[in-house]
Order: sequence, then structure tokens, then C-alpha cells
Amino acid sequence: MDVTWVDKNNVLLFMGNDVFYFDQAEIEGHDVVGLRLRTEVNDWLGCKITDDRQQATIIFDYCQSKFENNDTYHIYQEGTRTIIEGNQSKSLLYGFYALIRLRMNHQSEADYTSTPDQSIRMVDHWDQIDGSVERGYAGASIFFGALDKLDNPDRGDFGVEKVDGDPFRRNPEKIVTYARLLSSAGINAISLNNVNVRGQGTNLIVEPYLTGVAELATTFREFGIKLFLAINWESPKHLGNLTTSDPLDAGVISFWKDICRNIYQKIPDFGGFLVKADSEGEPGPYQYGRTHAEGANMLAQAVAPYQGIIIWRTFVYNSKQDWRDRHTDRAKAAFDNFKPLDGQFADNVVLQIKFGPIDFQTAEPLSPLFGALKKTNQIMEFEISAEYLGHQIDVNYAVPQWRQMMNAATGQTQFKDERAGQVIRETSLNSKNTGFAAVGNVGMSPYWTGNPLALANLYGFGRLCWDNQAAADDILNEWLSQTFAEVQPATRKTIFEIMSSSNETYRMYNAPLGVGFMVVPHFHYGVSVNGYEYDRWGTYHFADRNGVGVDRTQATGSGFTELYAPKIAAQYENVKTTPDELVLFFHHLSYQQVLQNGQTLIQTIYNQHFEGYERVENYLKQWQTLSTDLNKPVYEKVLQCLKLQLQNALEWRDQVNTYFYRMSGVKDDQGRKIYR
Ligand code: GCU
Repeated sequence: MDVTWVDKNNVLLFMGNDVFYFDQAEIEGHDVVGLRLRTEVNDWLGCKITDDRQQATIIFDYCQSKFENNDTYHIYQEGTRTIIEGNQSKSLLYGFYALIRLRMNHQSEADYTSTPDQSIRMVDHWDQIDGSVERGYAGASIFFGALDKLDNPDRGDFGVEKVDGDPFRRNPEKIVTYARLLSSAGINAISLNNVNVRGQGTNLIVEPYLTGVAELATTFREFGIKLFLAINWESPKHLGNLTTSDPLDAGVISFWKDICRNIYQKIPDFGGFLVKADSEGEPGPYQYGRTHAEGANMLAQAVAPYQGIIIWRTFVYNSKQDWRDRHTDRAKAAFDNFKPLDGQFADNVVLQIKFGPIDFQTAEPLSPLFGALKKTNQIMEFEISAEYLGHQIDVNYAVPQWRQMMNAATGQTQFKDERAGQVIRETSLNSKNTGFAAVGNVGMSPYWTGNPLALANLYGFGRLCWDNQAAADDILNEWLSQTFAEVQPATRKTIFEIMSSSNETYRMYNAPLGVGFMVVPHFHYGVSVNGYEYDRWGTYHFADRNGVGVDRTQATGSGFTELYAPKIAAQYENVKTTPDELVLFFHHLSYQQVLQNGQTLIQTIYNQHFEGYERVENYLKQWQTLSTDLNKPVYEKVLQCLKLQLQNALEWRDQVNTYFYRMSGVKDDQGRKIYR
């Protein structure tokens, strides 16, 4: 039961009678994207391609080097015909999907030009070769696993079972559909496997697995998408029989060169490697007394002859923190590890930085590394899979949060435009090597995602990468018109109402005011106020009878605020200018502190949890009005999710409110039910 925004039957409602013409009669064999575009028109949609320009209603015009950016496309009208022009087949493919989008949204195709804001627009899969997916909530991997193994039980730990024989799922139809989804949303890069590279997963870079990787790369290439692999830093030891993985060791250097030569023979346009090193138990250069720049640059040299890049994650921290130590602040880790290395990374290394300083939480400030790095390529990283955003059970259209992060001010006044998305381009060594990446959210679920509505997040992420300032509501409307093309406008409107407020709703009952991590340990779904309070992962709320929150000020706290540019540092240092939704991220406040909303802290916690729950109750009621207009399985699946969400919101409401009532002894000023 596919519920996708490029569903053939829906698209045909809008272009069933069109006849297409390509101004390049002969397409060269190596232009696989051009061939794919013809296949999309002819085989996928079943529309006619004519040799006679006059007969056509839609014309693809190749206009080499007319546009500065090779991804730019221009759609316009000439009489009754619609022309799509671009430098190359890839931009025409983007233009083709854009025309579908415009038509399905009843938008004008008279004159529409579009150029992506970012060069790297990437989805990172955390899929493992046994078919499991780390933090995957949509069934098993679409790439790996046995044909009959479709589920991915969430065990909260992610070992890899031994795989005998071929690990690839080999479901070409599914991969083509997925590649179409990605490309039509503007995605141009994908990493295939989990960043925690475990067990036999290490072997994806060599035969016999490499042939399976190359087959996948062939499909993605046709849709203009480059393929990357995550690697294990210790591969020289595991695969090369070396005694070390020291990046400066001659044997290690030549091991990686050989590996790359071999990969590029099979996959000439291979994107490169994604690396999680020295983090959460993964090996890395620190083991050998080397810096991350030395580690990354060694790999960068190995891929440089083939125009490959190394994407190196800054999610590096010592997970052995002691809760008794109030000085160490995990929020500083990425900055402390990487700011001193600014300017030392090669031109084809890109640092991949989580949007916030901790870990994909529901409310975090922008990481202070953005803007602080001045001579380094950067990618901002998000998590579509929804580890902390409701596991694709709770409706959570997260595009508003991501948009806010991409456009957050860095306070670096030397730039014309202080927005983070813009700043990473200006501060990069090579503006082709910057962009956004996100952990993907699809799996073998019959709906692609756990909750069918969660697919909007994949679409929205792609659209935001392309246009960083697109409005979240506009993107949602686009997705709804394409995904639910056949239903009544009133039905779409109801779904819109539920989804557009859902990110805020989730935040209301989930994490009070930026404090974060009150979740069930390891699983990260459901409430556990003290689940992480005495653990080694450095994520605390420090609630006591007087107040709650983490003091990260310079004056009295961990000093994290000083990592920002002066303007932003001053804003967060002062409780009065810190936005309410982040106030407990930066300050430890008394329960009686009056926030910017005019309410006390404790009353705000109560209000948000009551309101969050009420909103979910309303979503359920609203959804139940749609039973006759929606496709039954989709209706039922979302209904089931909403019922679980209501249960989740209830637990969050009652446990958080009870906890803080017990701590503070302060009653709700509206006398609502809080347990003693
Ligand atoms: C989170 C997540 C892990 C993941 C890590 C990462 O901590 O819980 O499962 O491995 O992020 O981004 O590497």
C-alpha cells in the first residue's frame, strides 16, 4: 500500500494526455539520467514521446551552460506548450518532477525557475546488513535482509546478526520507487549503511558485498543520486590484516588507497565515505594519538583522485561522563574537538555537524560550531527517522523545527546573511562541499514509514535542502496535494490542521522548555523523567525541590554560552532574552521564575502538558471524521498510531506533571488533576 507523493495514478490525473518531446534526439549511452527521464515518461507514466516538436505538449530543452548551476531548471510556456529547460538531463529530471508538483498544486507553470540553495542534499541510512535498522521505525531495511524478514524490532541495542550468503534484499522495484521519491524531493546523495559499522557490515567496501553496493549505485545514479558508504575506522585491522589503523602509517595509507581504487573501478561516481570516529565506542584516530584532521585527510587523499569526498561526523564525545561532575558539559564536546582544527581539513573533507549541540532533541539551540568554523566545509545533520520525535508513531511533522535551524542566526555579523544555511556556504573551503544530511526514515513498512504521515518529513527535508526558506506549511500543502490527490479538499485541510501543529504539540508534552532527554533509556520513546539522570551519557535535567534546568551560562554555569558569537552569547546568557522553548537548556530556574509568556515556570510545565494532551485528543477526533473519504488501510493505520500517541501523551502529561508537583509542591492554578 504505497502512499507516496509521486504515485503514478495520482500523477496521471494531471498529465495523462501529455505528449513529450526531447530536443536531443539521440541520447548518449552514458547519460543514464537522460535515459531514465525517458523511461519515467514512457514506462512509468506510460505517456507518449514524439519526434515532432509541433506535436508535443511538454518539451525538454537542453541548453548547455545557460545556467550557472547545473541543477537549475526553468519551466515556461510557449503558446500551448510547456518547456522545461536546463543544462543537463539531471536538471530536466528535477524540472519534470517540479512540473508534476506545480500541476498537482494548481500553481502556474508560466515562468518558474529554481536553483538549489545547497549542493549536498543527503539522506543517511542507518541500515545494517542483517536487515535491521538502527533507530528505524518503519520495518526492516529496504536494502538488506531476507525477503521474508520485514520487521525491525526495536531492541534499543543494535548488534548485527551473522549473515550467511547474500545480505542484499534485492527488490529493484522498491529501490527505483525510492530513488524516484528522493530525486523528486531534490535529494542527490545517499549513504547506505549505519554509521556504527558493526560485524560483517565492515565488509561492504570489499567483495563480494561491493558488487551488491554497485548495483544499488547504478539505480541511484539514474536518478542523479550519488552513493556513499559508512566505514569502520579499524578496517585496516579487520580487512587488511594490519596490526594498526593509525592514519599516518604507510601500510594503512596504502590499504585505503587500494580499497578506493577497487571501489571506483566498480562505482566510478562513488560519493565517498561517511565516518563516525571516536564516538560512543566507535574506534577512531584518537586511539593512535592522531587528530580528526589527520584521520580525515588521510582518507581524503585516497578518494581525491576520483573526486570523492569524506564526510566526517563531529558527534564525538566521551560517553563516560560522571553525573557527580557538574563541570563537564556534553554540549561543548563537538566544539571542543573540532573548533581547534578549523582550517586543517582538506578541501574534500566535510564536517557533518548535528544541528544542535547535544543530540537531535525536540528543542535545542543551533550548534555554536556553525559560524565559529571559518575555513571548513560543513553539513548540518538532522534525524528524519524520529528517534526523539515520536518514533513515527506520534504524528510529528518536523519541518518547522528543521527550517528554524537552517535559518537560525549565528550572530556572525561579518556575513551579509547570518543564517546558518548561508553561513556554512560562506565559511566552506569549497561551496560545492556543503549542505544538509538527515538520517532516513523509510523501511519495508507497507506505507514506507511507520505512520503513513511520517513520509511528509522525508519530502519536506528534501524540499528544504533545495529551498532553505520554503515555508513549512507550503511544503506540507504540496505533499498533501500530491499524496492525497483523490480526496476532498476538506479532508486535506483536516490532515493539514493536524500535521502543521504536530511538531509543537509533540514538544509540549515531551520536553519541557528545552530540557530534553526525559525519555526511556536506550529506546528513546516514552517518558522516564529520571531515565538518564544518573547515567554516563551526559544528559541531565538537575531537577530539585527548588528548580530545574542546566546552567550553561558563563556567570555561574558550564560556560557553554561563550562558545557563541557575542550577540548570541549575550542573548542566551540572560534568562530574560532566552526564548522560553530553550530556557531550561541554558538556565537552572526556580519553579516560581516568571517566563516570557508571563507564567511561572511550574505553571508553564503544567499548561504545556495539559494542552499537548488535549491537542492529541482533538487530532484523534478530527481524524475520525475522515473515515469515509480516505483509503481504508491508511485511515486505519493512522488511527492506530493516534490512539497510541494519545496514550503516550497521557503518560508524559501525568508523569511529568506529577514529578514536578512532587518536587515543587506547587499546585496547578487551574485545579486540574495532577497525581500526588
Ligand atoms: C544517537 C543515537 C545513536 C546513534 C548516534 C549517532 O546517540 O541514539 O543510536 O548512533 O546518535 O548519531 O551516531
